[in-house]
Amino acid sequence: MQHTVYESIKQVINQRRAIFPPSYLRKDISKSQLIELLDCANMAPTHKLTQPWRFIVFRENGLSKLADQLAEHYKTHTPSEQFLQKKYENTREKVLQSGAVIAIVVSYSGAVPQWEELAATACAVQNLWLAASAAGIGGYWSSPGTVKHMSDFLKLAANEECLGFFYMGFHDEPARVATRKPILEKTRWEE
Ligand SMILES: Cc1cc2nc3c(=O)[nH]c(=O)nc-3n(C[C@H](O)[C@H](O)[C@H](O)COP(=O)(O)O)c2cc1C
Repeated sequence: MQHTVYESIKQVINQRRAIFPPSYLRKDISKSQLIELLDCANMAPTHKLTQPWRFIVFRENGLSKLADQLAEHYKTHTPSEQFLQKKYENTREKVLQSGAVIAIVVSYSGAVPQWEELAATACAVQNLWLAASAAGIGGYWSSPGTVKHMSDFLKLAANEECLGFFYMGFHDEPARVATRKPILEKTRWEE
């Protein structure tokens, strides 16, 4: 039977998983491939075409700068009795294990409610995630509490907010079945 576009997209959606840095192979993701994936993100729906998603891509030397910053932010903003040396080291390590890490930023235009700009940015991330997954690149959206202290490092404008980081890397993890409660438990029908 011919593999239809519908079957392909269903497969990509169902097979996309959160893949974490310890599973990443030490393999560069080229700038041109990242641009291709970001082009997919850029096709997200957007009310009044405000296109509120912004991305800051850390790769090559940029990764060590980000690794240091995230680790230092964790140290600075964690009360000493909660501080874990292991977490501090993991924070650095998971950036350095990645082929690229992308800061996910929303730019509030004021033209539509903020939740719509957030929703559109999340749609863009899902496009990026699906496209990366189909290209054999694993990723996951990390949303540490410390992002709210990173505006200066990320050079954000006053109307911009960082929503976390998308970690990415080639991997060879076997397919994993998703954990979800059935959709019919989350759906009400009015017929
Ligand atoms: C907005 C958002 C924030 C997330 N933040 C984190 C996070 O901080 N840490 C984490 O381990 N996973 C995070 N995730 C990924 C989820 O853990 C993951 O998608 C979930 O476990 C379902 O697994 P699956 O994506 O493989 O189906 C986030 C996902 C979204 C959509």
